[in-house]
Amino acid sequence: MRKFYVAGNWKMNLNLAEAKALVDGLKQGLPAGWQSKVDVAVCPPAYMLAPLAAQLKGSNIGLGAQNCYFEPKGAFTGEISPQMLLDAGCDSVIIAHSERRQYFGEAGDLLKKKVQAALAAGLKVIYCIGETLAEREAGKTEAVISKHLREVCGPDLSLDNVTIAYEPVWAIGTGKTATPAQAQEAHAFCRSEIAKIYNTNVAAKVRIQYGGSVKADNACELMGQPDVDGALVGGASLKAADFIGIIKGAMEAR
Ligand code: PGA
Repeated sequence: MRKFYVAGNWKMNLNLAEAKALVDGLKQGLPAGWQSKVDVAVCPPAYMLAPLAAQLKGSNIGLGAQNCYFEPKGAFTGEISPQMLLDAGCDSVIIAHSERRQYFGEAGDLLKKKVQAALAAGLKVIYCIGETLAEREAGKTEAVISKHLREVCGPDLSLDNVTIAYEPVWAIGTGKTATPAQAQEAHAFCRSEIAKIYNTNVAAKVRIQYGGSVKADNACELMGQPDVDGALVGGASLKAADFIGIIKGAMEAR
């Protein structure tokens, strides 16, 4: 059985004092027994990683970055390497978030190199995929999911330390959540594509998070779907009570 995985993507929000208060709130407020049912991580802006790693020590809450470059070091002004993320105390990194695809033009080969470099360095990866509203309305949802998966997945890349995050772009930050049925349909398709690229064992093992306006009041129903294995949460991960509500939703889901 796949264990739920709920990660908070803080994006470019909060200052360090607010971030520390949020981590305190999570440490104090997570319900008893959460570790056995849900993997939990927070993904703050890069400069907060090292101080928050110290604060998270011993908490079992994971620490992820929101992006990385594929080179280990060198003249790449403004970039951060997987090795630096490890050095800061990270255990995972989000790659290919739709905002990276949309605003920073990230695609194809670059994303594959990033995922390969992060995995080779020893980080776990959350790899994001998902269609825009125009693509959904044009009936291209499955084609986009398939393309995004094939950009990175293949016989040369193991999914052992990869989580897929299906995030329909039209649901991100809009308050418009995919219905549980829409999420399940996309997740089931995603898993069937992974079975084609790899095999049914790999497909049965890989965790697929849903992302896009996940909140405490829809988390349980979304994660109650058989192929939804957690959530990548933006807005609702910025307040301890909201994020904890989502983790409780996961604990009650199945
Ligand atoms: P949201 O963002 O929960 O604010 O919609 C999700 C994400 O972008 O990961």
